[in-house]
Amino acid sequence: MKFNMKNGTPEKQRSACVVAGIFEQQKLTPAAEALDKSANGYITSILNRGDMKGKAGSTLLLHNVPNSACERVLLVGLGKEQELGDKGYRDAVRAVFKALSDTSAADAILFLLEAPVKNRDLSWKILQIAVNGLESMYRFNRLKSKVEEAEPKLQKITLGIIKPLTGEEQAASEEALQQGLAMAEGMSLAKDLGNLAPNICTPAYLAEQAMDMAKTYKLKVTVLEQKDMEDFGMGALLAVARGSRQPPKLIALEYWGGVKKGKPVVLVGKGVTFDTGGISLKPAAEMDEMKYDMCGAASVLGTLHAVAKMGLPVNVVGIIPATENMPGGNATKPGDVVTSMSGQTIEILNTDAEGRLILCDALAYAERYEPESVINIATLTGACVIALGHVASGLLGNDEELAQELLDASERSGDRAWRLPLFDEYQEQLKSNFADMANIGGRAAGTITAACFLSRFTKKYRWAHLDIAGTAWKSGKEKGATGRPVPLLTQFLITRTTRQSGNTGETVTQSGTRKGRRKSKE
Ligand code: BES
Ligand code: MN
Ligand code: ZN
Repeated sequence: MKFNMKNGTPEKQRSACVVAGIFEQQKLTPAAEALDKSANGYITSILNRGDMKGKAGSTLLLHNVPNSACERVLLVGLGKEQELGDKGYRDAVRAVFKALSDTSAADAILFLLEAPVKNRDLSWKILQIAVNGLESMYRFNRLKSKVEEAEPKLQKITLGIIKPLTGEEQAASEEALQQGLAMAEGMSLAKDLGNLAPNICTPAYLAEQAMDMAKTYKLKVTVLEQKDMEDFGMGALLAVARGSRQPPKLIALEYWGGVKKGKPVVLVGKGVTFDTGGISLKPAAEMDEMKYDMCGAASVLGTLHAVAKMGLPVNVVGIIPATENMPGGNATKPGDVVTSMSGQTIEILNTDAEGRLILCDALAYAERYEPESVINIATLTGACVIALGHVASGLLGNDEELAQELLDASERSGDRAWRLPLFDEYQEQLKSNFADMANIGGRAAGTITAACFLSRFTKKYRWAHLDIAGTAWKSGKEKGATGRPVPLLTQFLITRTTRQSGNTGETVTQSGTRKGRRKSKE
C-alpha cells in the first residue's frame, strides 16, 4: 500500500473515498463541514436523523454525496472533541481501515489530521495512521495452499491536509510518514517470523533472515556456531541446545548509522524457536504457542529493519541467541550444573526456565561491543502475563534514565510497558546449595526473579529488560503475532536521534511531567 500527502479541500477530491471525522454532539470536523456545506447540509441531516452519533471508532459509509467529486464518503466518529486522546484516535484510524477494506475502493483520502488529539502533534498523528493502516492490512497466508478471503483492494492512501503546511511542518510530516512506514514494515517482519511454523522458523532460519537483511542494508552479520559457543564457554546457552537436533546459532547484526566509533545500543532478543520446556516438559494444551518464544528475536530483527530502512543516525547491534528447547536423550536434566560465559555457575532446577539461560550468555557476549546500553527483549515468564495481562510489557533494569526513556517511548508509540522493581531482596530467591545461583526463584514474583537472574550478567553496562510474554502474540480466534515491541524500540531510537540533533527533545512522561534533554554519561 502506498501513502502520500496532499493539500486540498475534501469535496473536490476525485477519490474512491473521502474520510472525514465527526465528534459527538453533532460537531463536525473542518473536513466534514466542508463536505456538508457543498452538499447543502446533507451530512448534518444524517446526523440529525441519529444514524451517526460520533462515538469513537464508529463509521458510516455514504454513497453519491451531492456535489462531491468522490465516489464515497466515510464518516468516522471521534468521540467528544475535548476528550480525544491516543486510544480514541487509534480506534478511529483502525475503524477507518476496517471499513475501507470492506468496500471495493482502491484508494482513499483521509482528512484526519486536523482533529485535535490531547498532547499530540501532527507527526504523531501521521505516524499513527501509517502504522495502524498498514497493520490492518496485515495477513499471514504464506502457509495456505489457497486463500479463501478476497485480497483487500485498497492500494493507495492519501493524507489530506486542508490548511497548507509551513515548510518546516511539511518536512516533519514527510519524516513522520517515512518513520511510520518503516516501523510498520519492521512490525510486519516480526509478525511473519513469529507466525511461521516452528519446523520452518528454526535457529538456522533466523540466521538466514539476518544474513538476508545484512545483504539488503549492508549491515555486518556474524553467526556463531555451536563450536564457537564452546570456545566462548557459553555453557548456559549450550545446556539449552543439547536436547535438540537443530543446531543453535548466536546471531549478531550490526548497524552503524550513527557517529563513527559511537557506542552502540545493543538489543538482545530471546530466540527460542520452540519451547517444549525440555525435560521439565510443558503440558500439551496450547503448546503450539511456544513457537512464539522467539518473538524477542523477531522484534530485534524488526527494529533493525525499521532503523536501517529509515537510515536512522544511530549505532545499533542486535544479538540473538537462537535454539530450540527440546527433551532429547542428551538434554539437560534438572539438577545439572553448568558454567556460563561469565564464569558464574548455574544449577538448572527447571529446564523450562531456559530463556534466562540463553540470554545470560548473550548478555555476556554483548560486553564486547562496549555498549552505550543494552536492552533485552524476551517472552520470559508466564508470571508476566498474570501481572500485566496482554496490555503492557514488563520493564525492569538497572538504570533509571534508560528505563524512563523506554517508558517515554512506550507512551508515545502506544506500545505500552510498565516498570516492575528489581529490589535486592528478591535476589535471595535464586540461592542454590550447589552452584552460584539457581535458574528459578519459586512461584512468587516470577517475572522479577527472572530479571534478577539476568541482572547478575549485566553489571558492566546500563541495562533494561522487556518481558513481552503477554504482549508478543494473541491467543484464541485472533491467534497471531503482534509485532510488539517493535514500535516501542523503534520510537526509543528515533527519539534519541532527535534529542541528539539539537531539538529540545522534550517528551511528556507517563506521569505528565516534562523531561528535558537526556544527559549523556559518556
Ligand atoms: N517461554 C516461557 C514463558 C512463557 C510462558 C511465555 C507462557 C508466554 C506464555 C518460558 O521459557 C518459561 O517456560 N518460563 C517458565 C519459568 C518457570 C519455570 C520459572 C514459566 O513462566 O512458567
Ligand atoms: Mn520455557
Ligand atoms: Zn521459553
